[in-house]
Amino acid sequence: MNTNTINTEQTAIIEEVKQGYFGEFGGMFVPPVLEPKLLKLAEVFDELKEKKEFIKEFYYYLNQYVGRPSPLYYAQRLSDYVGSKIYLKREDLNHTGAHKINNTIGQILVAKYMGAKEIIAETGAGQHGVATATVAALFGMKCKIFMGKKDAERQQLNAYRIKLLGSEFITTDQGTATLKDAVDAALGYYIENPDSFYILGSAVGPHPYPSMVRFFQSVIGTEARKQILEQENRLPDSIFACVGGGSNAIGLYSGFIDDKNVKIYSAEGGGDGLIPGRTASTLVMGKPMVFQGTYSYCMSDDDGNPIDTYSIAAGLDYPGVGPEHAFLKESNRAEYHCVTDKEAIEAFKLLSSLEGIIPAIESSHAIALAMKLLKNKNEVSIINLSGRGDKDVDRNMI
Ligand SMILES: Cc1ncc(COP(=O)(O)O)c(C=O)c1O
Repeated sequence: MNTNTINTEQTAIIEEVKQGYFGEFGGMFVPPVLEPKLLKLAEVFDELKEKKEFIKEFYYYLNQYVGRPSPLYYAQRLSDYVGSKIYLKREDLNHTGAHKINNTIGQILVAKYMGAKEIIAETGAGQHGVATATVAALFGMKCKIFMGKKDAERQQLNAYRIKLLGSEFITTDQGTATLKDAVDAALGYYIENPDSFYILGSAVGPHPYPSMVRFFQSVIGTEARKQILEQENRLPDSIFACVGGGSNAIGLYSGFIDDKNVKIYSAEGGGDGLIPGRTASTLVMGKPMVFQGTYSYCMSDDDGNPIDTYSIAAGLDYPGVGPEHAFLKESNRAEYHCVTDKEAIEAFKLLSSLEGIIPAIESSHAIALAMKLLKNKNEVSIINLSGRGDKDVDRNMI
């Protein structure tokens, strides 16, 4: 089912839901069949996040299963090379190799509490698919993962892992066969199968997902703040993250948003540069509109229809972006930059050879931006290393 139609269907707006807005962005723009499900989810999540037992269980799995806290590693050779003091928040060291597992642990606990019988999820780079298939195995739940065919081909290792973990793996060849189409396929299934529980992988989509994903990923920012204060005895001058939908970024930023002196820099998947159809730099080139259940920025044509995007990084190759990022951009609290494939590949190679750390191609965008903006600045800075690059090594980038 093609759910593009629901994205722009203004009649389905739930006007009264003021919760879930970041400034003017956010909300719950869904067809009537999804309204009660999402309102129930919002209600349950609001209750659970205040419950000590729930938080204790969440942290139990983060510590014992994911391996948190992740280190804040001082990257000496990268720092010398760039001319600033750079720390890497090592989300790549989490079980399954990226930040996505923080969110899937949280959401599967919500699903368990709600008595869900089946889990579904979309995936782009495959990291969220792997993280969801992992927690479904951990809790013995049936699971379906939707992935665009193009992404399944360029992230074969993760496609294999999802199947090995026991999930049903469903590819779609709709549209550009990338993340947007995987979200459409998962949303379509969700609408038709009301008993399923949708574990959404980024801080996007209708309320309560942007708030819920932020909550579960905020562990990154909470840890990083404590760690930098321990190691440097001060806050950083700047922080960096890559932005696809925006979950690893909002997780890190949440620890520093109120510290007005900490500059926030975001790297979008710039593809070939700012050319329509050849980039996924949504907050640089897109416009505000309703897309996949939320009012945020989206890459669109003059008639307001979403357009194709392109980035070498499957996890950044998405025309939308989380509503809180739209708000952070418009309020000038965070900057958003277009980082091209070429720049990301350079950073991918550089971090590997300088530090012995192979970053995910998504995370390499954040490293590339930091290398550019921190050159000889002598700043103290944190880059979120959102994932590891095993999934990208067979892509002939050297
Ligand atoms: C390693 C990694 N980093 C970043 C992203 C982008 O997602 P988000 O912007 O939600 O953090 C992905 C998405 O798959 C990813 O796998």
